[in-house]
Amino acid sequence: MYASSAINTMDKDAVLIHILKLKGVSTLLGGDLPVRVINENKYISPLAAEGEVIEENLPTVDQAIRTALTGENKIVTVIGPEGSGKTTALEKLVVDWAKGEHLQNFEYVFHFRFQDLNAHEDVLSIATLIQRCHHYFPPKAMPLVVQKPEDVLFVFDGLNDYKHSLDPAVYTLCSDPDQAVSVPCLLASLLHGSLLNEATFVVATRPTAYLKFLSGSQVKVLGFLKSQRNSYVNSFFTDAPAANKALMHMERTLGFYDFCTSPRFCWTVCSVYKPLTDSGGKLPETLSQLFVDILVHLIQMLSLSQADSRELVLALGRMASHCSTGQHLSCTKAQMYSFGFQPFLTSADTFLRREGELESDTCVFSFHSQLMQEFMLALSFFLDKSIYTGAEKMLEKHKDSTKFLDLFLSGLSEPTQRRPLENLLGEFNCDQIKDFKQWFKSSSEEALQGYNTDSHYRCFHLLHQAQSESLVKEIIIPSARIGISYGNLSLQDCVAWNYVVACLGGTDWLNLYRTSNLTEEMAEILAPAMSLSHKIVLTASFLSTGAVSHLASALNRGLTRELDLSHSHLGDEKFKILCAGLRDCKLQKLHLVTCNLTEASCEDLVSALTSDTSQLCLLEMAFNEIGDQGFEKLCGALHSPHCKLEKLQLDTCELTEASMEVFSAALCSGQSQLKEVDMKRNIMDDSGVEALCKALQHPLCKLQSLNLSMCELTGACCSHLSGALMSEYCSLSELDLSVNELGQEGALLLCQALRRPGCILEKLGLTRCELTLPVFEELGSVLKSGTCQLKSLSVGLNKVGDQGVKHLWDAIAHPSCLPLHLNLVEMTRLTDACLEDLCTAVRASKTLKRLELRNNSLTDASVPALVQVMQDSHRMQEMNLKYNDFSEDVFDMLDKCKKITY
Ligand SMILES: *[C@@H]1O[C@H](CO)[C@@H](O)[C@H](O)[C@H]1NC(C)=O
Ligand SMILES: *[C@@H]1O[C@H](CO)[C@@H](O)[C@H](O)[C@H]1NC(C)=O
Ligand SMILES: *[C@@H]1O[C@H](CO)[C@@H](O)[C@H](O)[C@H]1NC(C)=O
Ligand SMILES: *[C@@H]1O[C@H](CO)[C@@H](O)[C@H](O)[C@H]1NC(C)=O
Ligand SMILES: *[C@@H]1O[C@H](CO)[C@@H](O)[C@H](O)[C@H]1NC(C)=O
Repeated sequence: MYASSAINTMDKDAVLIHILKLKGVSTLLGGDLPVRVINENKYISPLAAEGEVIEENLPTVDQAIRTALTGENKIVTVIGPEGSGKTTALEKLVVDWAKGEHLQNFEYVFHFRFQDLNAHEDVLSIATLIQRCHHYFPPKAMPLVVQKPEDVLFVFDGLNDYKHSLDPAVYTLCSDPDQAVSVPCLLASLLHGSLLNEATFVVATRPTAYLKFLSGSQVKVLGFLKSQRNSYVNSFFTDAPAANKALMHMERTLGFYDFCTSPRFCWTVCSVYKPLTDSGGKLPETLSQLFVDILVHLIQMLSLSQADSRELVLALGRMASHCSTGQHLSCTKAQMYSFGFQPFLTSADTFLRREGELESDTCVFSFHSQLMQEFMLALSFFLDKSIYTGAEKMLEKHKDSTKFLDLFLSGLSEPTQRRPLENLLGEFNCDQIKDFKQWFKSSSEEALQGYNTDSHYRCFHLLHQAQSESLVKEIIIPSARIGISYGNLSLQDCVAWNYVVACLGGTDWLNLYRTSNLTEEMAEILAPAMSLSHKIVLTASFLSTGAVSHLASALNRGLTRELDLSHSHLGDEKFKILCAGLRDCKLQKLHLVTCNLTEASCEDLVSALTSDTSQLCLLEMAFNEIGDQGFEKLCGALHSPHCKLEKLQLDTCELTEASMEVFSAALCSGQSQLKEVDMKRNIMDDSGVEALCKALQHPLCKLQSLNLSMCELTGACCSHLSGALMSEYCSLSELDLSVNELGQEGALLLCQALRRPGCILEKLGLTRCELTLPVFEELGSVLKSGTCQLKSLSVGLNKVGDQGVKHLWDAIAHPSCLPLHLNLVEMTRLTDACLEDLCTAVRASKTLKRLELRNNSLTDASVPALVQVMQDSHRMQEMNLKYNDFSEDVFDMLDKCKKITY
């Protein structure tokens, strides 16, 4: 029993020898050979995708395949782009099996490459096919494979290379293991379960249309994400400091492009970097520079004359153009000859991937990577006059099949970038370069005048590739709409934008409005650009903790004068980090509306406001629950000679009368520079106002504007306010008391103050203050007095009707009334009866410019007179008649006067 099973099992050592046989040579573009990677224990499994891409939680491709194989699935498809490590992963799978490390539930494992299967054009049975491709497999064991297919694993690599369809409908599928059929039919029969049903398959492929013929589960290969690139570079460079330097450089300049996840690309980059690092040379700053370096290196290896080098590049350019326009993945030998490649055939492996023997007519060639293909295409644009039809046309032609063509063109159009290639190939065509530059200039001018952020980013990327400060200054002209929101920038966009700002030496705006997740990495890249931006907008954005510390260090000693973090829900912890950067900065305006700050943040704010370099003069804190204790702390800053605060916005900050004594004392400290305070929507009560009024009449208090609307005040506070307004020291010129129940008695007290010649109040808000007819009569009389300084009065939403407002119309018509902006919004129940007074007032007034008459009961009957008076008056600029009782009949008439809105 033992003996027979030993004879009939697969010889794993033979499998190992077979799979680890050295095939081909590793090249700069082609990547390291799987065999070498496995043999030298340098294998790093690429990551497989599974739902959300969170690096730590992703399985490796090996793990993902093994997990998929333990399920019910008989077919596991491994899908990934070029160079993502599928071949190496599959070979590793077989090696691990042969070494007895994994997948020991399979007795037999057969590894095939579709590329090799292309060669079998005769009819044969499955046994014959296995024998042909696995000579070491004992024929005696074949019956066991057929009898127990559940013990068999087939590993197929490179489905995308297969010439034939696997569509089961195309073939008469076979089920008899001894039947000889065509190889495509054999493969279709295997994969569709008619032959050796119960066998298991792993099939690797680039994304291809054939996928739809494969059932079972899929493993998507992501390649190397950041942490694996880290390990890769470290295993490539033996010297740790050199590895770190290379890695940081690679991440900064190239690391954020998708293709950096390709292990093959990492190999290429490391292979270019290593000799440069060893010799202390300069590493490439951009993708274009990297490819210039690569090409220079490859051409130098061939020691060709300048003319031959140019011919070679032109031939590769024609090949690239052919592959790009026709979406061809590979070219036959005959096609290569037609591109003029014949003299360079023996050097083909340096540049291209070859399948088949060089001597064979069936041998085909392809570019190792889409990137190299696009680079060769770009290069040929500037070398080959015969194909050049103008930048715009050429880019349009290759639009769908290229991603980096314009980037490479931009890089190559700069003399310093292309010089190493010109030394080898001779001069580029200067007319074509000039044409490209003109196209770039005009297209970017158009893009930057528009609002399409992607077009802006594209322009920055092209500038980054060109690496020319003067070009940046030429392209980013003052009229460019740089202030539009660049929220949700990709990392690569951040790199490009940062480069542009550095070249400009600064910018007015960095608008990152609605960035859904400003990560630490993004902020780190953007930090230099941040510190060179006069205004940073991060409104309605989410900032990670790491991002906040980079923002803080960017502000520290930066040029930023205004920072808007409103609606970012920053919270106390992150704000503390930010404040570290606020102690030595140029910030003048800080917007923190709805930042989820509490009392805890006020202490940090104080230290920022009182640092000896503080220039902060505007602070918006609305909708943060700082409460009385927080505000009292904040008031401490006002005692400092370093605090420059002039405007403070405290709308809805959970303040009460309890903190007003402390605030009042701060206002009188002689140090406070505060001029404007908005305290609306805090439950201040009359006693709070009483405390504030002590400050208002203090000679050292500089307050000019105070908003106390919606503060739950009553008439009881008015005697204090009135007293303060009459004080000779009072500097208040704006007071908003709207939406408080002041009532008749309170309002009449205020009128007393307004009548006093010393009262300097210019703007008064009394909307919805329960005012009565006698109050309006008194207001009318005050306005006519000739001493009242009021220029703006809001008295909407007081229910006095035509009768009450008549007093104001009369006042406006009166010669002693000052220029007045009268706001009668929702002056309830104004009717057509007021028309005559209204028109007389408008005609008589020398100053009235705007009238708000929304939400009243004026009807069609008033319209002719209203239109007339507006047309006659050169002074009147606006009359708002929205929400009155007009019918459609008068719309035409209202339309005649542009100054009327309705
Ligand atoms: C950023 O992305 C988020 C989520 O996808 C989206 O809600 C937000 O509007 C985007 N911001 C911008 C500026 O496009
Ligand atoms: C923001 O991105 C970082 C890094 O990708 C991630 O760790 C974090 O969970 C993200 N946060 C949110 C709220 O999406
Ligand atoms: C506000 O901050 C608290 C902790 O300080 C946190 O629990 C809460 O979720 C935050 N709210 C918002 C809307 O961010
Ligand atoms: C006070 O706040 C109200 C409500 O936001 C606003 O309409 C008014 O203009 C403010 N008054 C002053 C003097 O700023
Ligand atoms: C005015 O009336 C309209 C329509 O009835 C209403 O929607 C609006 O809230 C009212 N108030 C103001 C200030 O416009």
